[in-house]
Amino acid sequence: MSEIPVPFCFDELNDFFSKPPASDIRSGNTLDAGILLPYLVWAFKADICLEFGVYQAYTSSILMWSMQAVFNNGTLVCFDMDDEALRRAERIAAHFPLISTHLVKGVSGKNVVAKTMKRKKIGKAGLAYVDGGHSFKNAYSDLLESLRLIRSDGVIVAHDYFNKKNYGVVKAVDKLAADHRLQKFIMPHPRGASFAILRRQVDPAGKHGNKVL
Ligand SMILES: C[S@@+](CC[C@H](N)C(=O)[O-])C[C@H]1O[C@@H](n2cnc3c(N)ncnc32)[C@H](O)[C@@H]1O
Repeated sequence: MSEIPVPFCFDELNDFFSKPPASDIRSGNTLDAGILLPYLVWAFKADICLEFGVYQAYTSSILMWSMQAVFNNGTLVCFDMDDEALRRAERIAAHFPLISTHLVKGVSGKNVVAKTMKRKKIGKAGLAYVDGGHSFKNAYSDLLESLRLIRSDGVIVAHDYFNKKNYGVVKAVDKLAADHRLQKFIMPHPRGASFAILRRQVDPAGKHGNKVL
């Protein structure tokens, strides 16, 4: 078996180890992502993943690592408005030559991820991770774009599903789930921040052949 680099983003890990964990909800929560995302990549057969909001590219590295570990290949589309964030993802991508990484610069609400995927003939994704702008408007447009770009049996993970001043993530996730009749699971975090996991309804009785409703 080929050697698989361990996910890394030492800025955040150092943060986590150097501070009392209770002082920093973000770091503890980021480590949770390192457990949750590899599982979801495997469970949802997500060999194409989307990432809205790259920043330290910690999640990018987890997604690249996960696809390489599970499929020995994969495609990651990284979206951010910040050049430096995209450069970080590019540097990490150099460690994962089997993963095809696409860097997309832009702002929420312009469907640039969709346009890029169409132009580059990238198929629908198995997983979309949404952690870009946290206002209602930005979070909602990233979530809606994600829903259009995942397979019918794919999954969306929204980070920071918790109430904080100027955060609209909870409202955006709940509206998307209600409008599109999505199943919603919340992975709570002891200090407040959470992941919301969304997928389309599956017919439990198998009346429709276990198809996504
Ligand atoms: C919370 S950070 C993402 C953290 C990332 N998951 C990680 O592992 O480091 C949010 C990122 O979203 C980007 N962002 C914020 N608002 C945006 C918008 N409206 N359009 C595009 N990118 C945005 C920021 O530049 C920032 O890099």
